[in-house]
Amino acid sequence: MTDDWTTYWDRGEAMEGRLWQAQCDFFVSRVREEIALGPDDVLLDIGCGRGYATAAPAPELREAHGADTSLHALQEARRRCAGIPGLTFHHLAPDAYLDIHRLPVRDVSVIFCVSVVQYYKNIGEVRTLIANAKKIAAPGCRMLLADLLMDYNPYLDVAGVLIGGLESGTFFAKLHEVFSGKHRLYGRTRAAHPVLTMLRAELEAVCAAENVPLRFIRRNLTGNRFRTHALIEIRPKENSARRPERPEDSPPSRQQAAFAAETGG
Ligand SMILES: C[S@@+](CC[C@H](N)C(=O)[O-])C[C@H]1O[C@@H](n2cnc3c(N)ncnc32)[C@H](O)[C@@H]1O
Repeated sequence: MTDDWTTYWDRGEAMEGRLWQAQCDFFVSRVREEIALGPDDVLLDIGCGRGYATAAPAPELREAHGADTSLHALQEARRRCAGIPGLTFHHLAPDAYLDIHRLPVRDVSVIFCVSVVQYYKNIGEVRTLIANAKKIAAPGCRMLLADLLMDYNPYLDVAGVLIGGLESGTFFAKLHEVFSGKHRLYGRTRAAHPVLTMLRAELEAVCAAENVPLRFIRRNLTGNRFRTHALIEIRPKENSARRPERPEDSPPSRQQAAFAAETGG
């Protein structure tokens, strides 16, 4: 039987290579332009992998937590990041990976979930994740679902990977990955367990149902310009729906506009 996604990602080779580090460095440098991070922030990085994006901002924050289903990735994250104050890694059980509210983490003000949701089974799981995030969120908490396969076109997506490689000087490393055994295993897993793609309208409907404002970020945050990123206000501050930090990115949908009007934003 073919591995499911959590089993695939728990293999050591899945997270190997300097590409991950390069991609996370790129993400960390870009995300700061979208989400201000400061000494009062508590970060939760869901699907943190080796913890690159968790660890980089950790010294500037009150607390940083990484969570992942892969024990292999967590072991590597803990080894690499030993000694960084305020940084903790947690295991998410593969059969309960949406239960982030059971982690020993509270008053979360920023949530990263980068290149992870595509390994969920359906959009209903995204809704459950948002609902559970509300239970541990501080007022004003922002959740970034990044690298989404939204309005997905597989040809554009591959083009995005290769263009990203050219832009970051990792083109040949990416090309090598495409022809490596690791990629063939990825393909086999993907044939048996399709990745989750979604339409904008589907995520908008989920956020409307959960009563959380959403905006899409158009700029490239993860090295693939054709992926989409969604910034969700998990717990708007009382009487003040936070204005998007870059309001020009995405015109409000009807749902967003209605929500902003309702909340005085
Ligand atoms: C593509 S990697 C992304 C890692 C990291 N966020 C980054 O951007 O480098 C996917 C990560 O998500 C984890 N993962 C896969 N399915 C998951 C799930 N259902 N819940 C939580 N983490 C999951 C994998 O173990 C892996 O570490």
